[in-house]
Amino acid sequence: MERLISMRGLLLVSVVGFAILNTWAAEAQSVGVNYGMLGDNLPTPDKVVALLKSKNIKMVRLFDPNPDALKALQSSGIDVVLGTFNEDLQRLGSDAAFAATWVSTNVVPHANAIHFRYVTAGNEVIPGDLAVNVLPAMKNLDAALKAANLEIPVSTVVATQVLGASFPPSQGVFSDDAGVHMVPIVKYLEANKAPLLVNVYPYFAHASDPKNVRLDYALFTAVDPVVTDGTVRYFNLYDSIIDAAYSALEKAGGPSVEIVVAESGWPSSGNGDIATIANAQTYINNMITHLSGTPKRPGKAIESYIFSIFNENQKPVGTEQNFGLYYPNMTQVYNVNFSS
Ligand SMILES: *[C@@H]1O[C@H](CO)[C@@H](O)[C@H](O)[C@H]1NC(C)=O
Repeated sequence: MERLISMRGLLLVSVVGFAILNTWAAEAQSVGVNYGMLGDNLPTPDKVVALLKSKNIKMVRLFDPNPDALKALQSSGIDVVLGTFNEDLQRLGSDAAFAATWVSTNVVPHANAIHFRYVTAGNEVIPGDLAVNVLPAMKNLDAALKAANLEIPVSTVVATQVLGASFPPSQGVFSDDAGVHMVPIVKYLEANKAPLLVNVYPYFAHASDPKNVRLDYALFTAVDPVVTDGTVRYFNLYDSIIDAAYSALEKAGGPSVEIVVAESGWPSSGNGDIATIANAQTYINNMITHLSGTPKRPGKAIESYIFSIFNENQKPVGTEQNFGLYYPNMTQVYNVNFSS
């Protein structure tokens, strides 16, 4: 289930920053969207899939294996990142037969008609009570997929709360609370050549400390470097957060684990002059043109999923309801150029 309470990473850094090596190349093919469904007024999945196709969006993340959405996505040419309900983690980790049933129910029937990029066990549960279940769930899902002759990488989705330090980016490290879970997960990802999915929200860093985390740094509009880290210069917070997570992965035994940004977005309403349509439009459109690599991974396109397709009226009142690119009636909140 898509989290009901925001657990997203507040990088309480006195920060700021992004990089350079960013050429301009728009990486339209590396941008997908999150298909959140916490609304009682959303269009049916077939209409949503038609909308995605009309915008040339080739990748979507599902928070859970919604049968109607999966059916609508069949033969659409849209790749899928498939999540599990957090509520299923304990059983997925402790009961291999349950994991096998999950795969045979939610993946196998679609596997000929959908390219699944990853299966993700849990969303933003590390650190926390459910964290201990994540690696066992990943292992059981991986075994079940392999038994079904499916080659789909298995991972999990974390918030930046897993980081104990993130500034400057080279000092990024998992917190002690998260590290006890992350270190074995990272070693597993390294051995299995699977990425770690991370939710990256410059919005929350700016909103929680607007004086020290500059708006232009968060919106990719800074013209001069905002953070210098050794010989590396950062012009935007997005890259800075991702590189902090890369530093943490390296220290946790995952030097070749890649990061996929499972969520990033900016609310268009609900928080004064920070959450505006203009800022959201600037953030999203600039993000799409800045996915050609971070200073720590230059030239490597950053696969990223925008949060979210729709404004969702069953989320907490305020910014949480206003992350959508579209209103539920499929009118765009602002224009996004996916093929710039
Ligand atoms: C769609 O919904 C938005 C927000 O409620 C509204 O402003 C807009 O006029 C609606 N568009 C149509 C075509 O109904």
